[in-house]
Amino acid sequence: MSMFRTKNLDQLARDAEGTHLKRSLGAMDLVSLGIGAIIGTGIFAVIGTAVAGDAVRPGAGPAIMLSFVLTAIACAFSGLCYAEFASLVPVSGSAYTYSYATLGEVVAWIIGWDLIIEYAIGNVAVAIGWAAYFHQMCEGIGLHIPAWLSVDYRSAAQAAAMVAKAGGVVDSAIALNYEAWMSHPTIAGVPIIFNFLAVAIVGLVTWVLVLGAKESARVNNVMVAIKLVILFFFIYVGAKYVKPENWHPFMPNGFSGVWTGASLIFFAYIGFDAISTAAEECKNPGRDMPIGIIGSLLICTLIYVATAAVLTGMMPWDKLGVADPLAAALAYVGSDAAAGLVAFGAVISMTAVLLVFQYGQPRIFFSMSRDGLLPPGFAKVHQKYQTPHVTTIWTGVVVAAISAVANINEIVELTNIGTLFAFVLVCAGIIIIRYKDPHRPRKFKTPLVPLVPLLGIASCIYLMAGLPWVTWVRFGIWLVAGLALYFLYGFWKSKLRVQS
Ligand code: ALA
Repeated sequence: MSMFRTKNLDQLARDAEGTHLKRSLGAMDLVSLGIGAIIGTGIFAVIGTAVAGDAVRPGAGPAIMLSFVLTAIACAFSGLCYAEFASLVPVSGSAYTYSYATLGEVVAWIIGWDLIIEYAIGNVAVAIGWAAYFHQMCEGIGLHIPAWLSVDYRSAAQAAAMVAKAGGVVDSAIALNYEAWMSHPTIAGVPIIFNFLAVAIVGLVTWVLVLGAKESARVNNVMVAIKLVILFFFIYVGAKYVKPENWHPFMPNGFSGVWTGASLIFFAYIGFDAISTAAEECKNPGRDMPIGIIGSLLICTLIYVATAAVLTGMMPWDKLGVADPLAAALAYVGSDAAAGLVAFGAVISMTAVLLVFQYGQPRIFFSMSRDGLLPPGFAKVHQKYQTPHVTTIWTGVVVAAISAVANINEIVELTNIGTLFAFVLVCAGIIIIRYKDPHRPRKFKTPLVPLVPLLGIASCIYLMAGLPWVTWVRFGIWLVAGLALYFLYGFWKSKLRVQS
């Protein structure tokens, strides 16, 4: 059964003793860390499709507020399980490290493989959302970036087909895509339409990370302040334009719209799990972890619901399916200056999310490579900058290449299914570990085990079930490819195997 070999928890704890990190973070720092990773493309961009739906998805309409609450509850159950895992395995790391020490190598590999979807593929969606807002922001100051450098080819072609079907009428939701189709150049007969803006921001972030930018608590706090100010500003300005009749019908597509909306808007909460990675640097993890996780979820939920209420009150719900819905709603009511400011804030917020995830992904690869599950090249550290430059650059290249051609909704759905699956494994892991190793000291215990983890599993599967079948197929292929890779490489080269 050697694919279920585990790392020794006592050994991990001893290793951590020698190099332990300073215990300096309190509950408020954790809440800030969480908000830093959470607020981004979800609330600024994905909410548009979640509200309005599109050709293949029914929209939630104003009831998106309900979708936010449902999703937050699912996240809270999983968050409590993450917190116990993090306090049980006293090293800074991610679900990958926790599961290697508790559930066995093959589960750890699956989670690590799955985290690529959460971090790298998730960042593709963030980069595409960034590009939409950056384009809008530049338009606001009179700088025109060609549409064919700001969207992907397939979306442009789809927009052209939709306009043809509608007899030449261009819906505002697809205006930019259509413009790209109508204005693109060709080189040797090949149409040139790709999301250059998304590629550029990923390139820039990668470069900064190779040079060794660190997530510092101070910078994070500034970013968090900007995000909150911008969303409060939107709520404050937008509230004046709310017309209650826009909230009727509240649930235009019934509960199925609310469910699909929740499955999509889950993206807006991804990142709270990163709080658990700070367990080792926390002054009083038993108390601060749950406050940090539940606190940041609660704060984000309140802000998200308020933003959603104002957004759907300002503009008819079925017109919100654009890539930059918050700015579009302000422009719709004639507040162009406010729209520009919100676009600017969105660009900053999304850059912060890009940095967090683009920083995290190479470090997961790094741990997997150090454990022998990936080739040793992945654990190379730059002599001068002391950063894992090889994995940082590879992550950058792959994320940039996909974001040049991908459609944001498909990418969001893939990210969600992958992340939800990792949550399911983490929740299941808590039940297993309570049974396998009940007496090991834990600074934080998930309440009401097995009820809370079971509710976590059920709610995550419920959200996964709201995603289209093609997303399931893509995810299935991803998992099968991952397992094949494990049995071809990691299983044989694993340090644990070689040492034993
Ligand atoms: N929750 C993060 C965002 O919405 C991933 O950008």
